[in-house]
Amino acid sequence: MFDLPNYLKTNRELVNRTLKGYVQHFCRSGRMRQPVEYALLGDGKRIRPILCIASSATVTEDYHIALPAACALEMIHTYSLIHDDLPALDNDEMRRGRPTCHVRFDEPTAILAGDALLNMAFELLTESALNLNTNRCMTAWVKVMACIAQASGCRGMIEGQARDLAFEGATISIEALKDMHALKTGALIQAAMSSGAILGEASEEQLACLDKYGQSIGLAFQVIDDILNIKGDPCIMGKAVGTDVTRAKNTYPALLGLAESERLARRLVERALQALDIFDNRADPLRFIAHYIIERNR
Ligand code: IPE
Ligand code: IPE
Ligand code: MG
Ligand code: MG
Repeated sequence: MFDLPNYLKTNRELVNRTLKGYVQHFCRSGRMRQPVEYALLGDGKRIRPILCIASSATVTEDYHIALPAACALEMIHTYSLIHDDLPALDNDEMRRGRPTCHVRFDEPTAILAGDALLNMAFELLTESALNLNTNRCMTAWVKVMACIAQASGCRGMIEGQARDLAFEGATISIEALKDMHALKTGALIQAAMSSGAILGEASEEQLACLDKYGQSIGLAFQVIDDILNIKGDPCIMGKAVGTDVTRAKNTYPALLGLAESERLARRLVERALQALDIFDNRADPLRFIAHYIIERNR
């Protein structure tokens, strides 16, 4: 029987160790090292890097090739959290079980730490590409860079964040909510799946299936984040709850109610599992992660 807790722990530790090494390599600045490490090496679940590794492992034995991309995704995700928590955005004071970056340091430092992490992600990706010596791998890395850049930018996370803020207090349709979630959270999760698959040299069919899994799981992840903002335990989650209602955010529970949102998350997980039908037990980590995403309490 596949041991998911052990799988998550082992990979989280691998990602944490690797991230630490990358910060030492890429961030020699005496001023920025501390805030960057504070945000990046905090107690995150590392779900995006783990999905990237698991996606790669579905199509290749040599899944460690995806580790730099996995870490770059975590850098971008952490930057997005630092900025998401700023007073000008969600104005949150707790993240990953401790004061947010701008509370622990100050706002200018938090803004720069976010900028540093975004830049670092692309330093890491480009250096990973340049360290390779076959054209085939170079092409794969360029595809991965394009995929991650697109998912993080105005065709992905940034646009989703802009809509999330613009929609505060507004009445929007379910379709508009779904698009916003798919952009602000889904895009990066989908990019984690695609990057792992591309680096594992997945076939077109494999890539399409892993991408489809990412699309469903990405949306389910944000639906659960919204549900946990209502009924989660802040001590376990390491961040405040009840804030979406206070800020009149558009969320699935706000539009559909809790029960219907939970049903939707389950349907999305079913869809994600169906997308894995073409794979043998090498996709088991992804199957178990799909269940974990809706059962999680943090
Ligand atoms: C929180 O992401 C923000 C969302 C995009 C929903 P995670 O729940 O992955 O946060 P960490 O990385 O574990 O702190
Ligand atoms: C965070 O969304 C999404 C990004 C940082 C891109 P939320 O604002 O809903 O997430 P939490 O609840 O602060 O973690
Ligand atoms: Mg937000
Ligand atoms: Mg937030």
